[in-house]
Amino acid sequence: MTTSSDARRLGPDLRVAHDLAADVLVVGLLSGSDDGSPRVAGSGLSQDAADAVATAAAAVGATGAVGQTHRVPAPDGVDATSVVTVGLGGDADVTGDAVRQAAGTAARGLDGVASAVTTLSTLDLSAAAEGFFLGAYRFEEFRSQKSRSSTTPLGSVALVAADDAQDADAVVDHARHVAEAVAIARDFVNTPPSHLYPDEFARRAADLGRDAGLEVEVLDDDALRAGGYGGIVGVGKGSSRQPRLVRLAHRSGVDDARTVALVGKGITFDTGGISIKPAANMENMTSDMGGAAAVVATVVLAARLGVGVDVIATVPMAENMPSSTAQRPGDVLTQYGGTTVEVLNTDAEGRLILADAIVRAVEDEPDYLIDTATLTGAQMVALGARTPGVMGTDDFRDRVAEISRRVGEHGWPMPFPEELRADLKSRVADLANVTNHRNGGMLAAGIFLREFVPAGLDWAHVDIAGPAFNTGGPWGHTPKGGTGVPVRTMIAVIEDIAANG
Ligand code: BES
Ligand code: MN
Ligand code: ZN
Repeated sequence: MTTSSDARRLGPDLRVAHDLAADVLVVGLLSGSDDGSPRVAGSGLSQDAADAVATAAAAVGATGAVGQTHRVPAPDGVDATSVVTVGLGGDADVTGDAVRQAAGTAARGLDGVASAVTTLSTLDLSAAAEGFFLGAYRFEEFRSQKSRSSTTPLGSVALVAADDAQDADAVVDHARHVAEAVAIARDFVNTPPSHLYPDEFARRAADLGRDAGLEVEVLDDDALRAGGYGGIVGVGKGSSRQPRLVRLAHRSGVDDARTVALVGKGITFDTGGISIKPAANMENMTSDMGGAAAVVATVVLAARLGVGVDVIATVPMAENMPSSTAQRPGDVLTQYGGTTVEVLNTDAEGRLILADAIVRAVEDEPDYLIDTATLTGAQMVALGARTPGVMGTDDFRDRVAEISRRVGEHGWPMPFPEELRADLKSRVADLANVTNHRNGGMLAAGIFLREFVPAGLDWAHVDIAGPAFNTGGPWGHTPKGGTGVPVRTMIAVIEDIAANG
């Protein structure tokens, strides 16, 4: 059995460019000139070379629109074999996310290319580095030679730095670490449920954690039962593959460091349990551990970056299956910490394992708590497939959502309408796990979790039901399947806390 900690190649080598020698030069094109012709964005090319590239690309149909790529011969004075242009759109003030997505689009078209060099990085060095690495991501572990791609993956990318760039090598190194963590999360999500079940997920997470120097603890089924983790045990007991709780701690060693608790939903497959889901699209429930994958990748990343914040991940893992040992609709379980819950719908399982994990995480007395989960179909009804819903305590929720948009993960703040709390009252227990209606389903799930978060703790709950898993075609740096969202949001929040408290 291979593990994710094996040195599987996750993406191309990245380095700062010192010249334009490569197989392919990648440049960004802006649209919106008065005469309709595209122009080259950023610096790094002579004016003559830039004009020649824009003219050649326009001749084969390039307009600079987002998503376009074109390949043209290299003009005189450029030491590459050919030039790939990629559209950046019409906004002269190019955002980091536009650069990251364009770099990803370009990288997806560079299969089989040994070396690329780019000037996109003169617009945003970090975003270009991340975009190339993420766009070149592939997952072929479960293909035999019959269906493996015949080309070698993009080998290396040299990134031209703007003249005024500071610490360019450090910026690229940081971007590579971040993108690697995103790729680790994608790998976990893309690994099928036949191969990634709670015990195996726990083992891989623990291996990664130990390699990164984290403190590691894994609670098995016996320990969970003995410890009173009724939510994790209740959800897990329908499956022959027993549940786990993984704890990974990055201790910064910094005096008076803040502590950030991370919690991620790790349902390795969600059939719905006895409240079984329809067959159509059930296979997408392989992604129901996307929150756990992102949290594991983020705490490992925090250690590799050496951030000056303590980060403690608490990751519940279970498989939600129907069987004669499964929990029933109407069962009552006791969450870790003593709250009783009537399980009216066994398909609302994520909140049950998260509640236990949140209560455990809070015992570490964190300054901030972020949980993330593929929690509700209602997230997609409300916000679509690419926009995480961010809930929690008002100020921290807004801070997380704003940082999420800054890094291009698009998180959006959502409210907790107070009237929904009454709909979680149970006939027999402290709480019911669902309301008897569909209105505000994403918010009701968040309100359920709020019951387990102590008053006064800064908390953000990030619902990534849609954003964790791309069921459509590839776009920008996002492939089909696992996306790695919200790794980049969480590490940026942790770094913001390290810098500003
Ligand atoms: N894992 C699902 C949510 C989900 C749905 C994620 C689609 C990704 C794509 C979750 O466990 C679930 O089944 N939620 C129910 C809650 C309902 C029973 C209150 C849902 O959304 O239907
Ligand atoms: Mn479910
Ligand atoms: Zn689920």
